[in-house]
Amino acid sequence: MGRAAQIHSAEDARRLAKRRLPWMVFDYIDGAAGNETGAARNRAALDQATLRPRILRNVSERSLATTIFDAPAERPFGIAPMGMCNLSAPGADLMLARLAARHKVPHGVSTVSSTPLEKIIEVAQGHAWFQIYFSGDGAGTFKLVDRALQAGYQTLVLTVDVPEVGRRPRELRHGFKMPFKIGPKQFLDFALHPEWSLTSLFKGKPQMANFDMPGYSFDRTESRAAADWGTLARMREAWPQKLVVKGVLDVEDAVLLKNAGVDAIQVSSHGARQLESAPAAFDMLPLIRKAVGPEIPVLFDSGLRSGEDALKAMMAGADFVFFGRLLQFAIAAAGEQGLERMWDVLSAEMSIAMAQTGMSRLTEINTPLPR
Ligand code: FNR
Repeated sequence: MGRAAQIHSAEDARRLAKRRLPWMVFDYIDGAAGNETGAARNRAALDQATLRPRILRNVSERSLATTIFDAPAERPFGIAPMGMCNLSAPGADLMLARLAARHKVPHGVSTVSSTPLEKIIEVAQGHAWFQIYFSGDGAGTFKLVDRALQAGYQTLVLTVDVPEVGRRPRELRHGFKMPFKIGPKQFLDFALHPEWSLTSLFKGKPQMANFDMPGYSFDRTESRAAADWGTLARMREAWPQKLVVKGVLDVEDAVLLKNAGVDAIQVSSHGARQLESAPAAFDMLPLIRKAVGPEIPVLFDSGLRSGEDALKAMMAGADFVFFGRLLQFAIAAAGEQGLERMWDVLSAEMSIAMAQTGMSRLTEINTPLPR
């Protein structure tokens, strides 16, 4: 198993990835907005939360299985949409798609995925949700939504927390752009990380793969600020299947979304990549759950680094959660074996935590998390 066997935690994957990836790529994945205090706040909130240990409850048979939108999932966690995953290693998008197919969990496919959205849902055997960014005047956005529908996507995730792309100094310092330019600075960075450069650049620079449509191109830095509640209403009209809105951190917004007829609300601070001063996503989760009531699914991501974290989020009101960066780090660390290993680690962490808190099934979660 080689390098994959060295992964015993998300931090192991991050450390191994840091060694292999060019600084520009590592900092693009790892970086957060501003001085990264938002990222620290996400972590502090999760670290501070505790689980209630229970004893003598015969927890020898345990299951991590759940359902999401009435479909069975083998885990209560899935893959958050991330742009340009093939930067972590060639073929990363499809490694994630295979993982989703194997474990019947949703794979979030980014607007700016580095493999065409049709290919990903095919390889994921349908376990893929398409994530859309509204951009420019929206003409291209709705074309892409239509294309996702044609490709068989049944869930659309509208990400609303990027009216403007957050300033991430680590990314900016390296001159990170999509498609990326290779100037002298990047050349040196790539030369010092030959393992990545030889495989990734040899296979051709990773590209944004969803824009080979007439009349639609995507500029990652273009303003997405024109989206409003009318845009959501249009999206609701255009999308007959499940509609998730991702990037919600405010109780009032969550209630408006519920009233607007969305199918699920995803509490997220975009992994702290947007508003540095946003509250910890984990702190908002129980408040939003309380405000919207038990009927509507509440999904969660941002800052989760272990199966125990995922369990905390479920205790705090999430029906289903998503891991982001750590999956890319596992791939960068040890390819598909690294990803599978990371998944097993997360699964074991959650299952052990369930045993230690006296739970056999996730349906037993009904006690509010002690804070
Ligand atoms: C993201 N995220 C993201 N979200 C989205 O809706 N569309 C996108 O294209 C991207 N792209 C993206 C790239 C990279 C490199 C990262 C790290 C993240 C945000 C993502 O879906 C999720 O909200 C966070 O990654 C969750 O936080 P953690 O688990 O990474 O801390």
